[in-house]
Amino acid sequence: MFELLKKVLAPVGPSGLEGPVAAAITEEIRPYVDTIETDALGNLIATKLGKGENPRKVMISAHMDHIGYIVTGVEKEGYLRVTNVGGIGMDASLTRHVVFQNGVHGVVVCEPVEGNKQLRHLFVDIGAADKDEALKMVSLGDVAVYANDCFALGAHRVASPAMDDRCACALLVKLLQTLGETEDTVIALFSVQEEVGCRGAKVASFAKEPDVGIALDVTLWGDTPGTSQPDIKLGEGCAIKIMDRGSISNPALREELIACGEKAGVKTQREVLPYGGTDASAMQTSRGGIPVCTVSIPCRYVHSACEVIDLRDMDAALKVLTAYLK
Ligand code: CO
Ligand code: ZN
Repeated sequence: MFELLKKVLAPVGPSGLEGPVAAAITEEIRPYVDTIETDALGNLIATKLGKGENPRKVMISAHMDHIGYIVTGVEKEGYLRVTNVGGIGMDASLTRHVVFQNGVHGVVVCEPVEGNKQLRHLFVDIGAADKDEALKMVSLGDVAVYANDCFALGAHRVASPAMDDRCACALLVKLLQTLGETEDTVIALFSVQEEVGCRGAKVASFAKEPDVGIALDVTLWGDTPGTSQPDIKLGEGCAIKIMDRGSISNPALREELIACGEKAGVKTQREVLPYGGTDASAMQTSRGGIPVCTVSIPCRYVHSACEVIDLRDMDAALKVLTAYLK
């Protein structure tokens, strides 16, 4: 899983510019699915037909995009002004190595301010001497993300930017690679623009009319100094979501997924998250309504340059999903 995870983490793919991620994923899944298509927004939709008599359509989504800094202006001295694409926090932004899709590197810095630091105080130093030189390197509207830096942390854990939600993309790739024949048709949705409001999942679930929707995403943690909520620990298994601010999981589906964990002999955690949302929120309210649940990978330091997951939780999620589809 670690090798696959590294491959899927590497591409630069902020919201709206997920092409390189889709290309890397397509290469991995092609032999294992019946059809692969890309829609107008850039969603990568891979379908694996069910062998049952009346197969249900189970849509499983993982979002390809990650958060970034979009260039809003250039100072005459060559520094870039930026705003957020998705949930960028100030603490996570200070003196960070970022990279643009064209390969230009930069450092995000906050100017000295009294009081609250805000996004408007940030600038990106790309080493340009002046505005003209800067504009030869990047254009207004280009987006930078935290530079790829993926490393093992202890025996089971991995730290990297973009773990939200590439760890789930890798999980969904692995599921397609290992699943084999199923009764149900599996629609694997590698979605776009989740971080700016689940826009990819919204149109894909409308287009594909699934009978069931399962989102795969990271969730927050409560097991480091000074944290206690949500009651989620790394290494204690994947989390089955009961509620977040975007969706309330279908109770029957959620209990079925928890039972699948028991059947597969892996640990799961019950997740109540007082913030956030996933692609499940978009799928749930599509057309006449779709039963949904989210299978979450516990992740520390979400939306920072060092998002940490535990490979054992990814393995647990893989087993839960396999048991559900078998
Ligand atoms: Co996110
Ligand atoms: Zn996410």
